Amino acid sequence: MSDLSVNIVGPRMKNPLMLASGILDETGESMLMAVKKGAGAVVTKSVGLEANEGHRNPTAFEIGDGLGLLNAMGLPNPGINDYEREVKIALTGGVPVIGSVFGRDGKDFSYLAGKMEDYGASAVELNLSCPHAKGVGMDIGADPEEVGIIVSAVSSAVSIPVFAKLTPNVPNIADIALSAVKAGAEGVVAINTLKGMIISPETGLPVLGNRLGGLSGPAILPVGVRSVFEIKQRFMKEEVNAVIIGVGGISSAHDALQYIMAGADALQIGSVMRWKGAAVFGEIASGISDFMDREGYSTIKDMVGIAQEAKK
Ligand SMILES: Cc1cc2nc3c(=O)[nH]c(=O)nc-3n(C[C@H](O)[C@H](O)[C@H](O)COP(=O)(O)O)c2cc1C
Repeated sequence: MSDLSVNIVGPRMKNPLMLASGILDETGESMLMAVKKGAGAVVTKSVGLEANEGHRNPTAFEIGDGLGLLNAMGLPNPGINDYEREVKIALTGGVPVIGSVFGRDGKDFSYLAGKMEDYGASAVELNLSCPHAKGVGMDIGADPEEVGIIVSAVSSAVSIPVFAKLTPNVPNIADIALSAVKAGAEGVVAINTLKGMIISPETGLPVLGNRLGGLSGPAILPVGVRSVFEIKQRFMKEEVNAVIIGVGGISSAHDALQYIMAGADALQIGSVMRWKGAAVFGEIASGISDFMDREGYSTIKDMVGIAQEAKK
């Protein structure tokens, strides 16, 4: 019988599937819904120092027929002081809650991470990768040195595991991952959205209020899998033992298994919930379990990174 549990964020997770930051996780109640439908852990919406309304509408646009989503929410959130209630409610679900935070520098990030730790989060995820917010996100997360400085500050400020969430909008994602881990991160989360734009020929204008957005959903799956593969390859080469959490375009067990075989220890599920709802957690978990039983894998760990062994 296959064992889906993984141990990467402190308390053991019953399966490797987490709710990704920013999708149906603004409130404690919406995080609980994902828990009820089978999520092994939940990541909060990225929260900053102060309340932020985000960008003006429209903030999201679907492409193709469920192919992807372009969003420029602009990190709307109530601010860290008002977010305690949401974390406390999410914690009643009995699975690890990972607090996602964003800021401008090591000082902001350390303060926010400390608050998430006080609220009861099992780990903290540093959003170093949002492609549509000025002065935060990928504006600072595209530079390995800057990432190292922020991670190092946070790691010495909290005692819970620290994960750096990375942007794919760089030529060197493995360099950034290595820098984060060398600075004290327990692991990395890859990937955030790809920078994109959609123009309406009828109006002659970009459709999103912010013009630029971030692409997510099935269209980005191969970019995420490649990113995780490159990060795992670099970690193996440097003999670094760190966690990789894969995210981007996962909508089935087949997609999830690709990430695991590239090198992911756990996964996050985001945009697909727009099309399939939170029931997708149960569907993916049982699909992974069926595959393991069929192919003779006993644990998730047995499959992590096996694609790295393939001959060139
Ligand atoms: C509407 C929306 C809001 C998002 N908000 C956040 C956020 O607040 N913080 C963050 O780190 N990532 C955010 N993301 C990125 C997702 O967590 C995820 O990295 C990305 O969407 C790729 O996964 P997916 O294809 O499964 O959605 C957001 C994505 C979407 C679509």
